[in-house]
Amino acid sequence: MAGREKVTVRHVIRAKQRGEKLVMVTAYDTPTARLVDEAGVDMILVGDSLGMVVLGLPSTLQVTMEDMVRHTEAVARAQPRALVVGDMPFMSYEASVAEAVRNAGRLLSAGADAVKIEGGSEYTDVIKAMRRAGIPVMAHVGLTPQKHKLLGGYRLVGKTAEEALEVIRDAEEAAEAGAFAVVVEFTAWEVAREITRRISVPTICIGSGPHCDGQVLVIHDMLGLTPSPPPFAKRYADVASVIRGAVEAYAREVRSGAFPGEGMYWGMKSGEHQRLLKLLEGRGEKR
Ligand code: KIV
Repeated sequence: MAGREKVTVRHVIRAKQRGEKLVMVTAYDTPTARLVDEAGVDMILVGDSLGMVVLGLPSTLQVTMEDMVRHTEAVARAQPRALVVGDMPFMSYEASVAEAVRNAGRLLSAGADAVKIEGGSEYTDVIKAMRRAGIPVMAHVGLTPQKHKLLGGYRLVGKTAEEALEVIRDAEEAAEAGAFAVVVEFTAWEVAREITRRISVPTICIGSGPHCDGQVLVIHDMLGLTPSPPPFAKRYADVASVIRGAVEAYAREVRSGAFPGEGMYWGMKSGEHQRLLKLLEGRGEKR
């Protein structure tokens, strides 16, 4: 998407009408948000993948509203041009519509421009209520990691016609309810293509093939910072080696005394060290 003005949900919808591919990536902190924004992405997702790739949790089920608020604030502090989407964590929108709207409002107050919920057909009431409150919602269908226990693991979804139909229905109903975009995760590519053809708002895919209006990746997977990334995550850089190499060099220099070197430390004002020694002597201290 060209231009330097702030990306809004209207721009995102228009991109589909113009046939422009949308680029989305996750970020969870201020410096990363600044960098991905400088790289020109259209949308930044403060994903609940945060739990696994940043906080070392076993799944997204342990991520809290407090985690998401804190990290959404951090991303928003970068003041990105990209649209910031805050992910609604497990149990922040399932129990009741009122609670869902209140929690979505907290993410907007934290600086998000929109929120994302996992689900389609079963959350049309939530999507409608959020829209009524002025909160743009992105839906998420196919593999929905918060439901991995029900789905039977992190698996490709929509391999049979019946399951494919369910996913397509999910996306259609979410879009009809007012979602401004739909994430389609790890479905058979034919399913993602059908959804993309059938709904008027953009599909943002991850692991669901090329026939989508946009793509999203988890930044830690892209940068080679996750030890076992999902099979659909392409690694664009080996930042783990860069970090390891830099810290090894630092450790070598500390141990050899090469760091800190000349020009990296500073002294007292002229004559002040002598005065200090006298003051210390006066206290009866020995050097
Ligand atoms: O939390 C996340 O990063 C996500 C993406 C994988 C779409 O939901």
